[in-house]
Amino acid sequence: MKNQDIIDLRSDTVTAPDAAMRRAMAEAPVGDDVFGDDPTVNRLQDRIAELFGKEAALFTPSGTMANQIVFKTIARPGWEILCERECHIANYEVAGPAAHSGLLVSFLDSERGFFSAQQVFDAIRPKNEHCPLTKIVELENTHNRHGGSVCSPEEIAEIGEVCRDNDLHFHLDGARIWNAHIASGVSLAEYAKPFDTLAVCLSKGMGAPLGSLTLGTRDFIHEAHRIRKMFGGGMRQVGIVAAAGLYALDNNLSRLADDHSNARILAEGLNSVDGIVVELERVETNIVLADIAGLGITPETFVKKISERGLLCVQFGKTTVRFVTHLDVSEAQCIKAVELVKDCFST
Ligand SMILES: Cc1ncc(COP(=O)(O)O)c(C=O)c1O
Repeated sequence: MKNQDIIDLRSDTVTAPDAAMRRAMAEAPVGDDVFGDDPTVNRLQDRIAELFGKEAALFTPSGTMANQIVFKTIARPGWEILCERECHIANYEVAGPAAHSGLLVSFLDSERGFFSAQQVFDAIRPKNEHCPLTKIVELENTHNRHGGSVCSPEEIAEIGEVCRDNDLHFHLDGARIWNAHIASGVSLAEYAKPFDTLAVCLSKGMGAPLGSLTLGTRDFIHEAHRIRKMFGGGMRQVGIVAAAGLYALDNNLSRLADDHSNARILAEGLNSVDGIVVELERVETNIVLADIAGLGITPETFVKKISERGLLCVQFGKTTVRFVTHLDVSEAQCIKAVELVKDCFST
């Protein structure tokens, strides 16, 4: 099967930079960013900081580093971080909060990926010589493992208030905050307001080949700069990558609405196949979780069978598979994806 015949819905990270993005990268003015000399990186950092209404931003190679830099910058070993059970920072970043920053990770449960302000309040430990010090709260929006669910600014504001009142640092893993912004119409600055720090990624739905940013106050970013160096994230003429991020902001943000409508087509189509269930009301952005238990096969077999027909998705649980739409997949391909699944599994 030729590459162009494959419909790759494994993740929104599988996109390839198009000719125009590559041109922007090739033409970017660059300098040594470890000296702070790269004008394209500086432009991206300033632009992102302004978009989110924060004082400063720091370019990192990955979302993982953008998150972990935050914890390492502010935390002391023996502190505790509260996060949702299925979150990325604790489940998919190789125990980074514990390994890098000596943090105890405590999980809060939720239906949609978002715990309540009351849950945070109830989880704060007494301040004594026995307990870890509850100090950081982390939220993920949109939430990957909960199928791209969107957190409302009202829910976030309530949690932010508990954090403020109890001297807790509030961090957002906003790898896909762009999708939340487009789906809800809430501005990026409004989303960012209650948070002390954020991590945002340009390499998910935005289509850049790599690049993320940590955001916060000028003082925080000054310190985070040292930690980035410690993590080996000091890069040199990296404006060629930052240029892809600037291009993505100009060209790939508003089109995320297409990914969301393609995800709906996919979700409704898959849900119409006997043996597959998609909770349609939970499809809010570009991620579709399909429960295939009714087909009587394992997710592994499902993934293998459809991959032989040129359709790629990933196993995402004991009976679940995940499909993700992105800028390299069209509406027609999503319709075709449903037909392929029907063809494979309809009796
Ligand atoms: C919600 C979330 N946060 C953080 C990351 C980490 O990003 P990276 O793969 O660039 O380290 C991902 C990666 O997919 C993610 O889905």
